[in-house]
Amino acid sequence: MEEYWNRSIKEVINEFPEVGKILDEYGIGCAPCNVGTCLLKDIVEIHGLAVEQEQEMMRRIAKIIYPDKVVKMSQIRRKTRAAPKEIKYSPPLKALVDEHVLIKRWAALIPEVVKNLDLESEEGRQLILDGVDFIRSYADKYHHAKEEEVLFKYFDENLDILKVMHEDHTQARGHVNAILEAFEGNDKASVAEHLTAYAELLTEHIKKEDEILYPWMDRNLSMTQIGGLYSKFKEIEACIGDSSKKYEAFITGLEKK
Ligand SMILES: [Fe+2]
Ligand SMILES: [Fe+2]
Repeated sequence: MEEYWNRSIKEVINEFPEVGKILDEYGIGCAPCNVGTCLLKDIVEIHGLAVEQEQEMMRRIAKIIYPDKVVKMSQIRRKTRAAPKEIKYSPPLKALVDEHVLIKRWAALIPEVVKNLDLESEEGRQLILDGVDFIRSYADKYHHAKEEEVLFKYFDENLDILKVMHEDHTQARGHVNAILEAFEGNDKASVAEHLTAYAELLTEHIKKEDEILYPWMDRNLSMTQIGGLYSKFKEIEACIGDSSKKYEAFITGLEKK
């Protein structure tokens, strides 16, 4: 079992598709992941299942991989404690979760924005520019910078889960550049395509952070580190100042329309 425990989750699922279904049953969905190099042991660890649940899941996986062997579960050791049933974030991570709420509200508006996409009128063009400004200034320069320049630095950046998060941020930036390029060229179909892809990517990305990454980080951060994070975030928040109100007003205004 040790051999598979240390292999990438995608490789294991490719060889034994049933394993993917079992992981799914325990809320460990690896399908949306763009990198797919996470090791089976890290994925199980990061999700922080209850001990009994994890043992039961691993027994089922072992049965698929070695149908004729009895596998000793004692070889599989967890490094951190199980996640509590109800997620309770530390104050700095709660601040990031709150920022996600505004980004998700924008992502939820995108299908309607795409349906009524108008690159002919000034009002229609301004809406796209305002949307891109929200993404670039709030979601990326402010929120993603807090993650990439501060939070992620508290962990080993070679961890696959963090590579997955960086890759999502990079892809999101790619969509924004593509939206602007298509906008300049009056290519309505391409603006729609990349806006939609951005909304889908960010919705999935935020779900991974809220439900898996942040709770796992909170379980591994010491009180001193949480205090340090809190003050570093406060400095960044002071830089954006009142602009966050402007972005909230943009989203609320759009929701009312
Ligand atoms: Fe992120
Ligand atoms: Fe985030």
